[in-house]
Amino acid sequence: MAQVRKRDSWGSRLGIIMAVAGSAIGLGNFLRFPAKAATNGGGAFMIPYFVSLFLLGIPLMWIEWTLGRYGGGFGHGTAPGIFHSVWQKNRFIKYFGIIGIFGPLVIFIYYTYIECWTLAYSFFALTGKYSHLADQAAMKSFLSGFQGLEYNQYFSGLKAAYVFFLITFVINITVIYYGIKGGIERLCKWAMPLLFVFGFVLLLRVITLGAPDASRPGWNIANGFGFLWNADFSSLRSAKVWLEAAGQIFFTLSVGIGVILTYASYLSKGDDVVLSGLTAASTNEFAEVILGSSIVIPAAFVFFGASDMRSIAGSGVFNLGFVTMPLVLNKLPWSAIMGFMWFGLLFLAGITSSVSLAQPAVAFLEDEFDISRKKAVAIFAAIAFVLCQAPIFFLKNGVVDELDFWGGTFFLVLFATIETILFAWVFGMEKAWDEIHRGADMAVPKIYKFIIKYITPLFLLFILGMWLWQEWLPIIFMKNIANGDKIYILATRLGLLGIFAVLAILVKIAWRRKRLLEEKVR
Ligand code: PFF
Repeated sequence: MAQVRKRDSWGSRLGIIMAVAGSAIGLGNFLRFPAKAATNGGGAFMIPYFVSLFLLGIPLMWIEWTLGRYGGGFGHGTAPGIFHSVWQKNRFIKYFGIIGIFGPLVIFIYYTYIECWTLAYSFFALTGKYSHLADQAAMKSFLSGFQGLEYNQYFSGLKAAYVFFLITFVINITVIYYGIKGGIERLCKWAMPLLFVFGFVLLLRVITLGAPDASRPGWNIANGFGFLWNADFSSLRSAKVWLEAAGQIFFTLSVGIGVILTYASYLSKGDDVVLSGLTAASTNEFAEVILGSSIVIPAAFVFFGASDMRSIAGSGVFNLGFVTMPLVLNKLPWSAIMGFMWFGLLFLAGITSSVSLAQPAVAFLEDEFDISRKKAVAIFAAIAFVLCQAPIFFLKNGVVDELDFWGGTFFLVLFATIETILFAWVFGMEKAWDEIHRGADMAVPKIYKFIIKYITPLFLLFILGMWLWQEWLPIIFMKNIANGDKIYILATRLGLLGIFAVLAILVKIAWRRKRLLEEKVR
């Protein structure tokens, strides 16, 4: 196929590894993972977690890097075009690829808003806005005030949150505006090392905490680690724990949603994907299993003990990060700097992920409609800005959770299933194996040929089946949603359906346009 416009590309191999690691290492590593591990069986959670890493996460990482690079060779940076390149005879497969633009967009809508809280809190830490607060109730009320859930002495309304949202949104758009090499790669190359510096300083601070309160024997750092890692093996019998572990692997590695397809589409045909993909995934696992688990939970344990910790960890992903952690850091010397580092770390983790969520939509407009990056970014910014208002103003009605369920959970597994079957069965495992190894710096262990062909798709179909079986009806009929919120959730769902329909129409138009252009050339 003739390729008129020159596509963007990565500046260096280190650049794309940093960018993929940047996408993977995010709020999921430092907020979601510790909470999930602590509430799903502690150390035992790591069994389904690692099984999912080796049978789902790593194979999908390789599949997406390979498919992305392959599709990029045809001038396509998003799933509709990439799927079409793989299965040219099938007229419908491109429509399944819509999920690869839709999913990242849906996550972007709420992720950017949460990311702006971390920017706000790093500012509050430096200016001492919450430094006088000394107990959970006060800190919780500070957070609720900031989120606009209640009017109180700290905040009256959403003004502060909205200002930080605007700043965060503009930074995101600016990075994407400068493109793959000039924007995303440049950001990740300094943000990732800085994130690790902040992470190591905080880790060092936490493991040298000792036992600050002699009247509470047992509240020490060793038991803090024990709280997270002592295994409750009975949890392994619960299907929910397996689903949550698999879900965490997808979310943390940024696989199964189309983002890595897009990033890899900017590679050249002979660039290695095996070692690069593995390096990015390993960096993410280090940040998650070592750093992510060693900062929040042990620190909070030392100050609050086992029973409070359990209720905090179970009461919401954000409470650990935005309520407990600032309280803990308030009690330590250099609290302003430490608080700044904690929220700074979260912000860096967040921004390097959110730009990756924006890129598929931008790439779709550029590649399939031949419009300039600047124009594509402007269109994306206008649409995303409008959509982002929903989580800001309807957080209390459960809109964020709803978006997270569809974008961050359900469609992830569905898309991963389609992708894997397409790769192993339609593209064909022999051809796929050759394609993975094109330009490779190391060979993938042979066993993965079997895993990718049989185990990964079966595991995915099993997870999908279990979900439909256990949760479909209650979810469709909104069984667990408060009556007053049902209307908001319904509106969110209709909105999502609308976005999907618009994308489907755009795909149709793009393909028709291309067909007409090709006919004209002939
Ligand atoms: N991996 C990111 C995290 O752990 O926070 C979140 C994420 C980014 C998920 C990009 C999916 C994605 F495509």
